[in-house]
Amino acid sequence: MSNVVIVGAQWGDEGKGKVVDLYSEWADAVVRYQGGNNAGHTLVVEGKKTVLHLIPSGVLHQGKTCVIGNGVVVDPKVLLVELDALKAQGRDLLAEGTLAISESAHVILPYHCTLDAARENFKGERKIGTTGRGIGPAYTDKVGRDGLRMAEFIRPACFRKHLEESLSFKNDILTKVLGEKPVDVEAVFDEYCAYAERIRPAVLNCGVLLDEQRKAGKKILFEGAQGTLLDVDHGTYPYVTSSSTVSGGAAIGAGVGPVFLDKVIGISKAYTTRVGEGPFPTELFDDVGKGIAERGAEFGATTGRPRRCGWLDALVLKHAVRVNSLTGLAVTKLDVLSGMNEVRIATAYDTPEGRVHEVPAARDVLAEAKPVYETMEGWGDARDARHFSELPAAARRFVDRIEELTGIPVVLLSVGPGREETIVRENPFS
Ligand code: GDP
Ligand code: IMO
Ligand code: MG
Repeated sequence: MSNVVIVGAQWGDEGKGKVVDLYSEWADAVVRYQGGNNAGHTLVVEGKKTVLHLIPSGVLHQGKTCVIGNGVVVDPKVLLVELDALKAQGRDLLAEGTLAISESAHVILPYHCTLDAARENFKGERKIGTTGRGIGPAYTDKVGRDGLRMAEFIRPACFRKHLEESLSFKNDILTKVLGEKPVDVEAVFDEYCAYAERIRPAVLNCGVLLDEQRKAGKKILFEGAQGTLLDVDHGTYPYVTSSSTVSGGAAIGAGVGPVFLDKVIGISKAYTTRVGEGPFPTELFDDVGKGIAERGAEFGATTGRPRRCGWLDALVLKHAVRVNSLTGLAVTKLDVLSGMNEVRIATAYDTPEGRVHEVPAARDVLAEAKPVYETMEGWGDARDARHFSELPAAARRFVDRIEELTGIPVVLLSVGPGREETIVRENPFS
């Protein structure tokens, strides 16, 4: 097996960054394939915390090729801030030549962020609760065939032409519909040309690069952002992000065919969190939820917003198994449930249309869904366990039950944020 996809099995922030960092040891290249800097992936190595928004989470291992695929929307300003922060720590990816940015990836420009905020304002109570990073408007431009790709961005004449054409329309929308200030072509051009100049050497055809790596027998790790329930097709629409977060998105967003992908590992917390608006059936509003939020330090890695917390949801996980073809599950934050008398897992919902065992598509039905729970015994401290057998018996039963409910093996358990606070039960590349 040479190629592995990591996807979030819930609503994001499952601990994908930590797992990708761990698995990167066995990989030659790590590829982001969708989303943008709405993602916040946290790595804790030797007690030091690093949060990555665009650069693949394999970067803390020397010599891995870091690829930003065509399916990603790239804010060049944010990318350069991230690259400069890594450079200050002694890793100059541009000089090393270990970063590749797809020439077909779309560019986020400042007016995408303005439009993101203005649309949310306009929606008022119906807002999505976006990260405000311009993700939706950038993908809207891509699908609406009015986007700017890296290949044109790094060619000043093409970049200027795009800005003039696109802004002649967008400035009307901004000023006449949304009551915002118009965007000045020259100001954006001057600022962003300087960014384009810096990243130009890294912009290339990443599909060709990955194909060459495959032919050379290299191992490739695909790093999903967000989570299955935030997928534009398979998530809790319209409270989703604007990309295909599921495993199929890895093929499209990296420029490889679907048979290129050998294994798909879903990442799930031992409970559930969500940041932003939208239905969340197992959400807890009581002290139990507050306790999980506190122990789990549940604040967004990108926006700092508090994450909503609730019990594990087997309907969500089964949905993720099916739409991603998950071959294994990594369960994180098992330590956060330590010290509770009992823990719960939702196995069905009661809805106005009756009892259901699949996540309903209709937003109003999902919003009304009341979870039906299975209750299990809680456990004591799990943080020191490094082998499955070292976990408290009740925690092992919880993991076994997750395997029964999802029908797939739990291949990794995480008992703390640190790289070493992990129980690896299987190497997905072997
Ligand atoms: P991602 O977006 O999926 O990469 O996840 P985030 O980094 O946004 O959020 C996960 C948070 O949980 C980060 O702060 C991690 O450091 C932390 N984390 C990951 N695994 C564990 C774990 O097993 N236990 C605890 N306590 N924290 C964890
Ligand atoms: P990682 O990769 C959690 C959520 C936002 C909002 C919705 C749409 O760290 O798991 P967007 O800015 O994408 O248009 O917002 O999606 N969202 C995330 N939630 N983790 C993420 O990324 C997220 N990226 C976007 O909160 O509800
Ligand atoms: Mg995150």
